[in-house]
Amino acid sequence: MHQPDLQMVDLRGQYLSIKNEIDDAIAAVIDSSSFIKGRFVSEFEEQMASYLNVAHVVAVGNGTDALQIALMALGVGPGDEVIAPSFTFVATSEAASLLGAVPVFADIDPDSFNLDPNCIESLISERTKAIVPVHLFGQPCAMDAIMSIAEKHQLCVVEDNAQSVGSLYQDRFSGTIGDFGTLSFFPSKNLGCFGDGGAITTNDAELASSARLIANHGSVKKYYNEVVGVNSRLDGIQAAILSVKLRHLDSYIESRIEAADRYDALFSDCRWVVSPPRASGCTHVFHQYTVRITPERAGARDALAAYLRNEHIPHAVYYPIPVHALPVNLNGTHPSRAGDMTHTNVASEQVISLPMHTELTMDQIEYIAEQVIRFLENFEMVPV
Ligand SMILES: Cc1ncc(COP(=O)(O)O)c(C=O)c1O
Repeated sequence: MHQPDLQMVDLRGQYLSIKNEIDDAIAAVIDSSSFIKGRFVSEFEEQMASYLNVAHVVAVGNGTDALQIALMALGVGPGDEVIAPSFTFVATSEAASLLGAVPVFADIDPDSFNLDPNCIESLISERTKAIVPVHLFGQPCAMDAIMSIAEKHQLCVVEDNAQSVGSLYQDRFSGTIGDFGTLSFFPSKNLGCFGDGGAITTNDAELASSARLIANHGSVKKYYNEVVGVNSRLDGIQAAILSVKLRHLDSYIESRIEAADRYDALFSDCRWVVSPPRASGCTHVFHQYTVRITPERAGARDALAAYLRNEHIPHAVYYPIPVHALPVNLNGTHPSRAGDMTHTNVASEQVISLPMHTELTMDQIEYIAEQVIRFLENFEMVPV
């Protein structure tokens, strides 16, 4: 059974399923020439705040800006240290670096791939200002433990929620627990627009005002600039698209969870594949379906990737090189300042992400899983 239409993310299929709603929303923005700021942006901010049950949402240009603006609003600057995971997209710590702060990397919990709270305290110094946990692949971090460390050491918390919009940590949405949460609306995200977009979430009115000020050149009143800021705005067309897609977010999450359930069931008898464990008390919204290839099949991950490429089965390795090991000098102390990175390094060698999106069919999932299992069962280990 060959599946010619497999895609890692099917943005066109998703668009076609809501084409009329999207086209009408875009036409309304063009009709009103409300391109920058304006009612479509403020309506979306209100809808997003209501969905997340958070007091304030500030829409910005992208998820990287959201992180930088949140850190600026918290006063993070040159010489301050920011503790973050290394098993993530570079943007998480790049934002701190851009402000002259020093990202300090902590290891992950091997099950969830998220920042391990047990690895944070030993990295705290008198210069530590903030912790930036990343809710990776769609699953919230252990926020109770992270918040109690932050409280004990009087540190700020910015939740990088780019990949987990709509996931629940106990009864609260991810991104609404720390001082700030940050969102990315990059097209392939669970809530994606048709270009770049992002947002900052917070329950603190003062921090929200500060973030709003910074995102708009440091001014609320036109030509009256109060602080050094940036130009980071969500445009009207993206906001209108996001308002439409937000109405479908719950059903998108449901489809992703159903797809993950099916993958889990198919891999349950395969001893070479470890399906993503789901932490109790959380919802995993499966931005990615990321499995580990067991160490007994060492070397098989890269061989599997080559096989899948050959079979035209989309896949990706998030992340092949942990941030602390990238050539970029993010914290001025190259090689980067980091704790023991054992679990981060091992994860980078073992993970592979399989197609995951709202249009994926059960037949496609079965085909993909069958190919993965067949390859691993027949994989010849190279003797060392
Ligand atoms: C964990 C994480 N943080 C931050 C970002 C940055 O978001 P953006 O691409 O919207 O700037 C991304 C996007 O890929 C991400 O996955």
